[in-house]
Amino acid sequence: FAQDAAAGEKVFLKCRACHQIGEGARNLVGPELNGLIGRKSGTAPNYSYSAANKASDLTWDEATFKDYIRDPKAKIPGTKMIFVGIKNDKDIDDLVAYLKRFGAD
Ligand code: HEM
Repeated sequence: FAQDAAAGEKVFLKCRACHQIGEGARNLVGPELNGLIGRKSGTAPNYSYSAANKASDLTWDEATFKDYIRDPKAKIPGTKMIFVGIKNDKDIDDLVAYLKRFGAD
């Protein structure tokens, strides 16, 4: 699929109940997601992760992120992210394109 960041912004509506991204993003129920692609798991400053997420020792590249968001509890058993995941491949690709727009700062 071609990645479509505008479509990904719509997919991200499902995440916004718990996550912020972009300028001024803060930790909410979940950690802020700026600079996610390329970031080590469990490293958003001042966010209180579960032991499972902290111990997961992943780098959020496209492959690990796609696995995770398809089935969060399968990728990180014990995660406190209570979210069924995104099952549609195009939605996942579009979401990656959207997330990549937001660097670390
Ligand atoms: C953690 C992405 C939806 C709550 C995470 C992490 C990612 C992520 C990548 C790991 C971050 C890290 O290691 O720094 C997403 C995306 C979503 C989504 C892309 C939508 C498609 C949600 C929803 C909720 C939620 C709807 C709340 C109902 C959390 C929580 C954590 C988390 C609580 C921390 C997990 C832990 O410490 O075990 N999310 N998330 N997320 N997310 Fe989400």
